[in-house]
Amino acid sequence: MPDRDQEKHAAAQAAAALVLDGQLVGLGTGSTVAHLLPALAARRLAIRCVATSPETERLARELGLAVVPFSGIERLDIAIDGADQIDPQGWLIKGGGGAHTREKVVAAAAARFVVIGSADKAVARIGPPVPLELLRFGIDATRASLGSVRLRDVPPSPDGGVIADYVGEFSDRDALAALLDATPGVVGHGIFPPSLTSDVLLALDGRVEHRVLG
Ligand code: 5RP
Repeated sequence: MPDRDQEKHAAAQAAAALVLDGQLVGLGTGSTVAHLLPALAARRLAIRCVATSPETERLARELGLAVVPFSGIERLDIAIDGADQIDPQGWLIKGGGGAHTREKVVAAAAARFVVIGSADKAVARIGPPVPLELLRFGIDATRASLGSVRLRDVPPSPDGGVIADYVGEFSDRDALAALLDATPGVVGHGIFPPSLTSDVLLALDGRVEHRVLG
């Protein structure tokens, strides 16, 4: 039985080693990132971090990492985050923890976006569920226009959005991402195209595979 925690730990350690002194660092959210934070803190670098969730912010501060507000900052040097699904072309599904909207903003602002994952995150092709963040205003109309949306029984996002999942089958990743991007009332969705990601660090067979996407 593979030890997923050990895999997350190995991928997180490899990612922490990529961070350089003086950098502005985006921190993702989730159990894999929970392995990243101590690894980063242990390096005792003079870095400043932007957190994608209140949970990450709290954990990072407890470890002595400097967390700054994401305002007055136009560009991050690097951001590191987990994912729910990672396909061979570098398409991701993110948002299992409901933080996908902030995570995408941070990923897009980073010169280098590094994705870390245990072996179970590797899929042949991304598929449902696709996490959504929906505006509460008009939510029933938004749901009706998309169809196949299931609301999650979780608190709203820190920005007041309603967390849900698109559960319909899809084959065209670009088309679904474009539809979700174009639907009023959809604040964010968890399809991350390969163009957002620079590196994937995936723990496989007792080693960490490093895929460079560009
Ligand atoms: C949170 C995310 C997480 O990165 C994703 O759900 C993976 O989580 P974990 O590392 O706990 O498996 O997108 O919104």
